[in-house]
Amino acid sequence: MLESLVKRTGILLASLSLALGAAIVGCENKESGKAPAPSKVTEKPAPKSDAPANPEAAPAGESAPASASADTILIGHFASMTGKEATFGQSTDQGIRLAIEEINAAGGLNGKKLELITYDDKGESQEAGNAVTRLITKDKVVAVLGEVASGLSIAGGAVAQEKGVPMISPSSTNPEVTQGRDMVFRVCFIDPFQGFVVAKFASDTLKAKKVAVLYDQKAAYSVGLRDEFKTHFTAMGGTIVADEAFSGGDLEFSAQLSTIRAARPDAVFVPGYYTEVGNIAQQARKAGLNVPLLGGDGWDSEQLASIGGDAIEGCFYSNHYAPDQEGDAIRTFIAKYGDRFKRADGTKPIPDGLAALGYDAAYVLFDAMKRSKSLGGKDLAKAIAQTKSYKGVTGSITIDKNRDAVKSAVIVKMKGGKPTYVTTIEPPKE
Ligand code: PHE
Repeated sequence: MLESLVKRTGILLASLSLALGAAIVGCENKESGKAPAPSKVTEKPAPKSDAPANPEAAPAGESAPASASADTILIGHFASMTGKEATFGQSTDQGIRLAIEEINAAGGLNGKKLELITYDDKGESQEAGNAVTRLITKDKVVAVLGEVASGLSIAGGAVAQEKGVPMISPSSTNPEVTQGRDMVFRVCFIDPFQGFVVAKFASDTLKAKKVAVLYDQKAAYSVGLRDEFKTHFTAMGGTIVADEAFSGGDLEFSAQLSTIRAARPDAVFVPGYYTEVGNIAQQARKAGLNVPLLGGDGWDSEQLASIGGDAIEGCFYSNHYAPDQEGDAIRTFIAKYGDRFKRADGTKPIPDGLAALGYDAAYVLFDAMKRSKSLGGKDLAKAIAQTKSYKGVTGSITIDKNRDAVKSAVIVKMKGGKPTYVTTIEPPKE
């Protein structure tokens, strides 16, 4: 049964090819001046023959647009499947796919199967807007999932709002993502809380008095989280001894790091994404800056340790979940994910927070679809808005009046190249 489903939708082929590396997709059109069509990364239909699925033969690149047939419901996903935040898109997509496969194996929605269409936005905001436009106007998806990076959710969300199609970001934490947009939701906490969480940990647990900040002035996420951290840390009696900026894509951080070193901080807060954070950690240690680095969810990638190496050991960041945390839902999810995306060498990947949030976002959408009067944008948005105490892998999800979720955060410590659970911080009671 699952077998025939897999053949029909090509999900297995597409996901295995993703697991093998997304480098095969979305490489054309890099230098062209006008906006290229977003690269579709999934759903090349599986061959009709009964030949066993061979992931290596999975065709990459464009395929005919999927169209909603009487027995399928299309859902869109826009994601950084390539680029310097590629693990964000890849992990999220796998989490979403796992959920959709489970939903379909259990019968789908009133007998209709869900079908996912993913476009690679390469981590660029113009591409993100294009991807959402195409999902809505050409493919006619009923809802959109994405993005991870707040700046890209802000860009894609503008389109979803204008077209009246609901969008759920699994993991964008900047408040602006959902502000003034009644079609846009998220299943994660927001940065005013995350900034508080890291400030509280720095102050109460690390007993840090002087903290330096090094943030990405080009990323809405980073700018917002830096502001929130500064506000909370100073309110807790701490001092910000340096406040330095870089731009996403930079490779060289020595000028900022020497200013920071001269300020003699107890810790350095780096609210960035994993690629720059890994490089910053390396360069900080070379520059003789040996205090712990602290970060937010943007650090969450298995690539953090590959890039940061020993330099990132002992550093802390806040996140949505920790794989070594207690909890039945977490254990079950990790087991299913590991089996589903087993590597060629037989080892099982451990899902990061993005995979868990992608999985939860897909289920929250499905839950709303089941309750909704129709799959029209207005009805579906109303049903999503009414989500209450949905038990996800990343905790209980209730959508509040701002279309955000209020949830606890965890602090993890990098140990032996892996994020390991330290503590949970609950949102302040109102
Ligand atoms: N919260 C980040 C943002 O808004 C994205 C992110 C979430 C990255 C979770 C990693 C893990 O940009």
